[in-house]
Amino acid sequence: MSVPAQLIELRNVTKSYGSVCVLAEVSLIVDKGESLAIVGPSGSGKSTLLQIIGTLDRVTSGEVLLDGKNLAALNDLQLAQVRNRQLGFVFQSHYLLPQCTVLENVLVPTLARQRAQGRGQKVETSESRAMRLLKRVGLGERLHHRPGQLSGGERQRAAVVRALINRPQLLLADEPSGALDHASATSLGQLLVELNKEEGVTLIVVTHAMDLATRMGRVVRIEDGKLMESGMTDKFALRTPHSALK
Ligand SMILES: Nc1ncnc2c1ncn2[C@@H]1O[C@H](COP(=O)(O)OP(=O)(O)OP(=O)(O)O)[C@@H](O)[C@H]1O
Ligand SMILES: [Mg+2]
Repeated sequence: MSVPAQLIELRNVTKSYGSVCVLAEVSLIVDKGESLAIVGPSGSGKSTLLQIIGTLDRVTSGEVLLDGKNLAALNDLQLAQVRNRQLGFVFQSHYLLPQCTVLENVLVPTLARQRAQGRGQKVETSESRAMRLLKRVGLGERLHHRPGQLSGGERQRAAVVRALINRPQLLLADEPSGALDHASATSLGQLLVELNKEEGVTLIVVTHAMDLATRMGRVVRIEDGKLMESGMTDKFALRTPHSALK
């Protein structure tokens, strides 16, 4: 039986703000292609954990490996490259640029990428990917609308396409449906699960919504700084990080 490769490994990660310990010795493995929900009470450290995985925050102690790379060994420029090339983010707020069209907004991450690479992808390639994905999420008729002309659900779907435009390995979503009505939240959740499979992108979603959480392959829970496996919802087995077995 082949074991899928690990994308993320957290080894005994602790995060403290002064004397306040938010994450205590958290260990977690996420395999390539997995979909994972992180749940837990408000203030339990879910966003902190997502930001650490997303290289937006550094640990107090412990290690984070992303596709075999130890993030502590990377400087700020290298971390920015990791974010641009390997990661996609979706937040509760869409953060679309109000003066730009939907299509322009989803192409913004490709500009940084072209500059970083010197020559980069052909603009046509990014544009055709953008248009294909926008059609895929039901925004084919909204390419030239501005964010202010979209519904909340449409704005979040545009934000999802922007997060996927550079073909990231990992999509990180923090309460992506938190500001949506129930129907829009349900369809966004469904869309994320479908894109996880279609695009082969590993998905980690922080959510309070159990119906969104249970759509993911696996659910973990944070409480009092500790992370607990809270169950499997499909084929992925519970896995203990190797370091925790020592
Ligand atoms: N920059 C910071 N400085 C000090 N304390 C912080 C900082 N960021 C987060 N915290 C604290 O860390 C704890 C965890 O915050 P975090 O945002 O990760 O919680 P959360 O689980 O995402 O909560 P919510 O569900 O409300 O979004 C909170 O008690 C918060 O006050
Ligand atoms: Mg949060």
